[in-house]
Amino acid sequence: MEDRIVNGEADSGEWSFEQSLRPQNLFQYIGQDKVKANLQVFIEAAKMRQETLDHVLLYGPPGLGKTTLAAIIANEMGVNLRTTSGPAIERPGDLAAILSTLQPGDVLFIDEIHRIPRTVEEVLYPAMEDFCLDIVIGKGPSARSVRLDLPPFTLVGATTRAGSLTAPLRDRFGVLCRLEYYNEEQLKSIVMRTADILETELHDEAATELAKRSRGTPRIANRLLRRVRDFAQVRGTGVITFELAQYALELMQVDRLGLDHIDHKLLKGIIEKFRGGPVGIDTIAATIGEEAHTIEDVYEPYLLQIGFLQRTPRGRMVTHEVYKHFGMEVPVK
Ligand code: ADE
Repeated sequence: MEDRIVNGEADSGEWSFEQSLRPQNLFQYIGQDKVKANLQVFIEAAKMRQETLDHVLLYGPPGLGKTTLAAIIANEMGVNLRTTSGPAIERPGDLAAILSTLQPGDVLFIDEIHRIPRTVEEVLYPAMEDFCLDIVIGKGPSARSVRLDLPPFTLVGATTRAGSLTAPLRDRFGVLCRLEYYNEEQLKSIVMRTADILETELHDEAATELAKRSRGTPRIANRLLRRVRDFAQVRGTGVITFELAQYALELMQVDRLGLDHIDHKLLKGIIEKFRGGPVGIDTIAATIGEEAHTIEDVYEPYLLQIGFLQRTPRGRMVTHEVYKHFGMEVPVK
């Protein structure tokens, strides 16, 4: 995946940084009001009954706070958080190693859970349902199956696409939470909160500008804030004014809707090479040199959300809004 400042995915360098900015409880967490209200009830009920919380599936585009919510769930339940990801669990043994060291009530967070191998998924079913592990030891005629009891735990799974989970896995989650893009006001509150933590002066209109250009995504909002803060420090007085924010965002090629050069390449590619579409996702992928699933998971959701792209049975089409955004003449078909 090409480097981009408005990419929703976290990079490894910013992980610990992001960690320190994260809200620690539901009260500090801004936005996702429905998810928050529901989780609050489920957490409180589980605590009243002294039970573990049911397994939770968080799904939605990258950067909207799935990992943060997992940490908050563990925190609110007063248990440990263990974190892993679908691709990191290659064999059933890898999963067994994690599960067998859980303390009662712990939260196990599996990011990108749609990417766990099938063989691992089958071990996960009885673990989720009956808190036990069936493991095959040995090979051939001497192979035998042993059953290990596990402490009760809460699995929090995160995925960018609920549709690519198998039905049996999806059915084993008692709580399903769909995360939505944030509105401008929420993003503004988030960057103001972050600026506070970073002890950086951020003018109100600058916060609004950052919120407008963050594609509904807190991770992008915070990343833009950090870069703009760099500009303020080196080229300004350290204060993030509206003018400085605009100047920095311009230099970073983030346009007024938060679209960057890759979005432009994608949208203009469809217009110039395919007369606005419809065109298949694989063709688009080949044209702009990105993987089809990266386009589907990372680049496309926001463009669909703001009504710049449409999905049709024959492929993707750009809408008239895109022509207007680029100052192009809207074609008459
Ligand atoms: N930082 C990143 N996401 C946040 C959120 N949803 N609420 C508060 N601070 C955040």
